[in-house]
Amino acid sequence: MTPVAAPASTTYFSVVLDQAKEDLARRGVPIFDFGIGDPIEPTPPFIRQALIDALSPVSQYPTIVGQRRLRQAVAGWAQRRLDVTLDPDTQVLPAAGSKEAIFHLPLAIVGADEQRRRLVYPSPSYPVYEGSARFSGCIPHPVPLSEENGYRLELDALGPEVLSQTCIAWINYPHNPTGASIGLDYLQRQVEVARAHKILLCADDCYLDLYFTEQPPPGLLQVTQTGVLSFGSLSKRSGMTGYRSGYIAGDARVIATLKRARPNFGVGSQDFVQAAATVAWSDDAHVAERRAIFRAKRDRLAAFLTDRGYDVSGSQGAIYLWVKVPTADRGQAPWSEAERGQAPWSEAERGFFARLLEHGIVVSPGESFGKGGEGYFRLALVPSLEQIEQAIATWERITL
Ligand SMILES: Cc1ncc(COP(=O)(O)O)c(C=O)c1O
Repeated sequence: MTPVAAPASTTYFSVVLDQAKEDLARRGVPIFDFGIGDPIEPTPPFIRQALIDALSPVSQYPTIVGQRRLRQAVAGWAQRRLDVTLDPDTQVLPAAGSKEAIFHLPLAIVGADEQRRRLVYPSPSYPVYEGSARFSGCIPHPVPLSEENGYRLELDALGPEVLSQTCIAWINYPHNPTGASIGLDYLQRQVEVARAHKILLCADDCYLDLYFTEQPPPGLLQVTQTGVLSFGSLSKRSGMTGYRSGYIAGDARVIATLKRARPNFGVGSQDFVQAAATVAWSDDAHVAERRAIFRAKRDRLAAFLTDRGYDVSGSQGAIYLWVKVPTADRGQAPWSEAERGQAPWSEAERGFFARLLEHGIVVSPGESFGKGGEGYFRLALVPSLEQIEQAIATWERITL
């Protein structure tokens, strides 16, 4: 038997970061953790209260279709946010976080005898698209994104041969890790290509409500609800990463297939989490507050970096800043020879990250999101504004 390989770069990346953080903590160096995208702002009290109120003395299995009021709340959000009418019974499913929904998608819908096995996704990207392809026996097909074309994945550019072998294509805007955003015309173009080649087009809409622009970014469901799925999440939108709650919405035929497949995965969302999710999707005021917090952090850090001569691109939404590694740097990396062989990033980049790390500043090397991220790094807007001021004071003292 040959075990399925987990994507090597991500495994290596988190291990290196964890080791580095442990080492810093041992040496008593204060840590400014811009590495992992897990915000620290508290979950709004009304959401926590809804969970507490729903905690029943008798605990029973949740269902895959979930509570109707939650599906209605997601449909209500789609109506307010996108001006789209979804049928809560046939077009919406709850998920135990969007990660599991993304991961399980090909397992649920790509049959063993399916000839079209390519799963297309951007590089750099959230690593789970690649993992889902590997574990389901699909062929991962990363598409390099570039700063020059605004980090847009254009399906048309893949050519008819690749498109004819593709079963699922992922797009994700606002994009993790670059924070890049797109307009409605972009989504219309991708829908046309996907439709012509019978590809299921999936939008990872994890950050749809988190943007730094004046206008909210458009959603794929605004273009069509046929042949497409949207995957949403309460994790960053409502400060609920630990609750594990998201949705899958869109094409009713695919949703019907997912309803049959997903009971196998054990991903029914707990009833008390669904109660909290229902009030979260029904309210937009707390999201506006969170947006303002992330925007203030983004503005402060972006101003600092730009002043220092860094090249900040993308960064129009999500909770990330995407920055070019200064090429002048040729520092000495502190990793051992053995580790060096496995390191997913270049010598110059390693020196740069090592220098930041020595001072407690933890960032994510771009290449940990795939080859397409090489030469960049991501700052997750997690530390508070106060901590950001301290991090900036430290960063100003580092000679890079
Ligand atoms: C692009 C993207 N999609 C999906 C997820 C998963 O979110 P959830 O917490 O809902 O599983 C994340 C989490 O960081 C993400 O960055």
